[in-house]
Formats: sequence, C-alpha cells, structure tokens
Amino acid sequence: MDPLLPVQIDGYLDDVAAVEEHDPVLTEMERRASASSFPIVGRAAGRFLELITGLAGARHVVELGSGFGYSAYWFSRAVGPHGSVLCTDRSAENARLAEDYLRRAGRWEPVTYAVGDALEVFAGHEGPLDVVFCDIGKGEYPQAWRAAAERLDVGGVFIADNVLWYGRVAGLAPADQDPDVAAAQAAVTDAVREMTREVAEDPRYVSTIAPIRDGVLVAHRVA
Ligand SMILES: C[S@@+](CC[C@H](N)C(=O)[O-])C[C@H]1O[C@@H](n2cnc3c(N)ncnc32)[C@H](O)[C@@H]1O
Repeated sequence: MDPLLPVQIDGYLDDVAAVEEHDPVLTEMERRASASSFPIVGRAAGRFLELITGLAGARHVVELGSGFGYSAYWFSRAVGPHGSVLCTDRSAENARLAEDYLRRAGRWEPVTYAVGDALEVFAGHEGPLDVVFCDIGKGEYPQAWRAAAERLDVGGVFIADNVLWYGRVAGLAPADQDPDVAAAQAAVTDAVREMTREVAEDPRYVSTIAPIRDGVLVAHRVA
C-alpha cells in the first residue's frame, strides 16, 4: 500500500529515524519485510514506539501481533535487558524468525514469544504491564482495546498501529470492485473507527493519532 504522506515525506521520516541505528540485523529484517510484503511498522514508527515507551518510563510491554520481531526490536531497546516484551503471534515460523533476528541483534534478553491467539494469550497473562501494542487483525481492534483499557494502570500506554488504515477511515481509498470484498473491507474499517472512537471517548485516557506511516494511536491512562 502507498503511504498516506507524500512518499518523499515518508522516506524523509524513515531516513531521519535511521540516522542513529545502523544495526545490520535491523536492515536484514527490513529487507525481508520488503521482499515478502510483510507489514512491519518501519523505521519512523519503530523509533516512535521506542520513544513513547521510554518517555512513559515503561518496563513491561505486551505486543498483540509481533510478526518476526521488528516492532519488538524497538520495544526491547526501550525497556532494556531487565524489562519484558511479551510477543504474540499465531505463526510459529514468525516466532522462530523473531528469536533468530533478535538474538543476533542482542535484543532477545527481555523477550518472550507466545505462539497462539494474541487476545487469548493476553487474557492469560498476569505479569506487570505498562504498554500494550496492538498490531493484530484490524477487525479485532475493538476487543483488543477493551481488554487493554481495563488492564492498564494509570501511567500505562495503549498503542495501536494502522489506525488511519491507508485512508479508509476517512473514505480515501476506493471500495473494491467485488462487493463481497468491499463489504469485508468496510467491516474492518468500521472496526478500526469503532476502536478509535472508543479510545477518544474514554475519560480515563488522553490520546492522539500520530500520522506516521499508516497512523499510530497513542493513549495514556491518566485516571
Ligand atoms: C502487521 S503484522 C505485525 C507486525 C509487527 N508488529 C511489526 O511491526 O514487526 C500482524 C501479525 O499479527 C498476526 N496476527 C493477526 N491476528 C492475530 C491474532 N488474533 N492472534 C495472533 N496473531 C495474530 C499475524 O500473523 C501477523 O504476523
């Protein structure tokens, strides 16, 4: 999918975010994503995840939808070796790849990777929790938010990727020619909108959407 911002701006944000981090393993992960069209958050959003987590002084992160560990790389940087990053994904192959990449990058120490349904793993997770990062199927976003909203304490942060959904939330992307596909897409878009509205209306959270890449929602629990 094309970025929402002009490609030059999107590229510029990625370039700025890449200035400080020259890890060849990170570049390898980016090449894999590009070659297989796998939707990682990318440099600018990855850096943003690290920044928000650091600013919140967060030590314990749960990721819903971890893929092969790219976003976890940035959370691992933020929490350091004595924090925790619980990764979740349905794919055992993604888990294997993530461990290989993150070990080679020296970022594996705080990470645990659970293979299974992310919301089920999250429901069974009892450890301390500072940040929930949501990047699973977009149709599941309302459930993910509801689960996280109750579990996070004051000071905790909920982050969700793709909340601008390539412009579909604002009616920007044309509907598919196939009516069944168009209906399925509309249902997913409605789910993303529903979650975003619920977050915005929740008086316990202060939130905004940073229009980095496909839109990153950040909600800080204040009450
Ligand atoms: C967008 S990718 C995650 C990318 C990753 N956060 C990154 O930026 O590196 C979404 C991943 O979530 C997984 N996924 C989607 N829905 C899921 C669910 N309900 N439970 C577990 N994994 C799920 C998919 O297998 C896929 O690997």
